[in-house]
Amino acid sequence: MKKITVIGTGYVGLVSGTSFADIGNEVICCDIDSNKIEKLKQGFIPIYEPGLEEVVKKNTQLGRLSFTTDIPGAIRSSDIIYIAVGTPMSVTGAADLRFVTEAAKTIGQHLNDYKVVVNKSTVPVGTGKLVQRMIQSHLSNPHVTFDVVSNPEFLREGSALKDCMNMERAVIGATSEKAASIIAELHKPFNTEIVITTLESAEMIKYASNAFLATKISFINAVANICERVGADVTEVSRGMGLDSRIGSRFLNAGIGYGGSCFPKDTHALVHIAESAGYDFHLMKSVIRTNDQQRLVVVDKVKEVLGSLRGRTIAVLGLAFKPNTDDMRDAPSLQIIPALLREGAKIKAYDPIAAKEAVVHFGDQIEYVEEPYDTILNADAALILTEWEQVVSMDPKQMRKLMNMPVVIDGRNIFSPKTMQENGFIYHSIGRPP
Ligand code: UGA
Repeated sequence: MKKITVIGTGYVGLVSGTSFADIGNEVICCDIDSNKIEKLKQGFIPIYEPGLEEVVKKNTQLGRLSFTTDIPGAIRSSDIIYIAVGTPMSVTGAADLRFVTEAAKTIGQHLNDYKVVVNKSTVPVGTGKLVQRMIQSHLSNPHVTFDVVSNPEFLREGSALKDCMNMERAVIGATSEKAASIIAELHKPFNTEIVITTLESAEMIKYASNAFLATKISFINAVANICERVGADVTEVSRGMGLDSRIGSRFLNAGIGYGGSCFPKDTHALVHIAESAGYDFHLMKSVIRTNDQQRLVVVDKVKEVLGSLRGRTIAVLGLAFKPNTDDMRDAPSLQIIPALLREGAKIKAYDPIAAKEAVVHFGDQIEYVEEPYDTILNADAALILTEWEQVVSMDPKQMRKLMNMPVVIDGRNIFSPKTMQENGFIYHSIGRPP
């Protein structure tokens, strides 16, 4: 059993803190946001993440997981300190490291004994060393020693806890063998592949992994656009490609492009890291540009069918960047809906969880509907932006009866073109023949 402090109770901090508690450690999750901590103490989870509430509750009751705003106190009482604060994108595209350096400073000021300081936040290569220098220069007791480790997180929103508990690898970039073995030992119960590297390599693994997955998505989206022009079907193409184990079938679903709090931010940050290191990362810039353009493909498609969108009612099914999350950060809907509004369309939107978040972005410019069938009622077209189960399970027959015009533009390829045609729809999807 280890005593762990996690600074930053966002997605990564809360989920990894909870999973460390769940394997038997004593974990203190801290945040400067007293409102968030107060709510967590009462068992209220600030993010929508399936299964998380129960595990937080269980570990809180067992006394293994606690929440506090007293970061200095938590630092002093732990053996391992995880930094899991946010690294938002700054105006230049670089990661903003304000919260990381602030955490490092606080750790330095309150370090009372040897501890391992672990970076879980996604940070540019070199940040581990920066954290080391920051702690060193703020030590109130110059005799204490510490080590810095980079242990990036690979969890996905919507399946975060599952990803964490069943991690495919633990990457441990360490400055000393002692620190590497402490963090490797901590990961033993996860029964996973341990990859021990330098600090810099671990930091790079995180960016390179996200950037590679984003590349896969932009690649298949570009292939989808070609498929449309040459009469091929991208779902058949990705199946045929994906069975080659060197390629792999995952992250080869064509759609409206990637969104969320990670891929857009991390791809931009990697371009910036490369630039600062004197390398022009053309490939990544194209991945980003392809993604930006892909978001608007559905707008072109609906215009192609309806002509002018002025005064048309468009039903938007799904607002979150993917299902099982209420996260609207960099969601494709944030570009698609304004583009539709600019064309003069009237929008009725449905999202089972993210609608509350969407209000922050769209206010009363669009109508929010609580039920998918009510959303398409009298609509001139339906646009599918998120593959929520509630949308995937919609019955085309019933849909046909409710819509003013039988037009469906499916940005997630959830319906069969044949079934939609049989039900009288003008149906367009991504990279598949209509
Ligand atoms: C992503 C990575 O998958 C995680 O491994 C990583 O830890 C995380 O970022 C992070 O850096 O914190 P996440 O952003 O939660 O996780 O979501 P994903 O499930 O990866 O989906 C990202 C986007 O790609 C979504 O908009 C999704 O719709 C899109 N996508 C995904 C596709 O368009 N096609 C696909 O085949 C797969």
